[in-house]
Amino acid sequence: MFGRGRNYTVKETIYIINKKMKKSSKYRYIMSGVKIFSDIILKSTIINPALDKQILKVLKKGEQKKEKIVKSNRGGFHSPYFKDKKIYQTLLKTSGDLISSCLPFKGKTNVSIDNLWIMKNKKNDWNVPHTHPYSNFSGIYYVKVPKKGGELFFIRNDMACGFSNNYLFIEDQSTHDIYSIKPEKGMLILFPSYLLHMVAPHKENVDRICVAFNILLKHAT
Ligand SMILES: [Fe+2]
Repeated sequence: MFGRGRNYTVKETIYIINKKMKKSSKYRYIMSGVKIFSDIILKSTIINPALDKQILKVLKKGEQKKEKIVKSNRGGFHSPYFKDKKIYQTLLKTSGDLISSCLPFKGKTNVSIDNLWIMKNKKNDWNVPHTHPYSNFSGIYYVKVPKKGGELFFIRNDMACGFSNNYLFIEDQSTHDIYSIKPEKGMLILFPSYLLHMVAPHKENVDRICVAFNILLKHAT
C-alpha cells in the first residue's frame, strides 16, 4: 500500500517516484545496494572413470565388512573415515584448484583433506540438516545419482531471513533461505563447512553414491 488510501502496484509506485524526481530537483537522490555476508558454493565436474571405480571398490569392501555408521544419514550406508591415496590425491588436486581459482588466497596456503567418507543412499534414505564443524570447506563428489530426487539442499544459517517473505516479492538470492542442487554424475561441490545442508530422499530403485570430505586450510610457513 502506498499513497493516500489507494492501493498502488510496485510498478505504479516506481513511476510516481520517477515523475516526482523529474518535476523538481528536491526529489533527487542517489540509490545503491550493497550485498553483505554472502556465501559461495563452488562447482566442478570430474571425468575420471578410474576414480569412480576405486570409490566403488572401497565402498564394496566397507559394505562387506559391515562398517556402516550413523551420523546425518537416516538409512543408507555411511562409511567410517577411510584412507585411499588415489581418491585422496584426485579430490585434493581438483578441490585446491577450484578454491584457488574462484577465491584467491591472501598468501601461500596449504590445502589438505582432513577426512573422507562414502555415502550410499537407497530409495527413501536421506540426511538430516547438519554442518561439518572444525574444517574450512567441505566437498561432495557424486559417483551415481538418481534421475529425480536426492537433491542437496543448502539452508541459510540465519533462518530469520525466511520470516520476511521477501522472496515472494523480489527475485534475488539475498531474499532466499534455501538453495537446492540436483546432483549429477561426476559433479564436485565445495561449500563453506559452516553452511547447513541436508539430502532429500529419492524414490528410485537406484543407489545415490557420493564421497564426502572436509578440507583444512593452513598458512604455509
Ligand atoms: Fe554433510
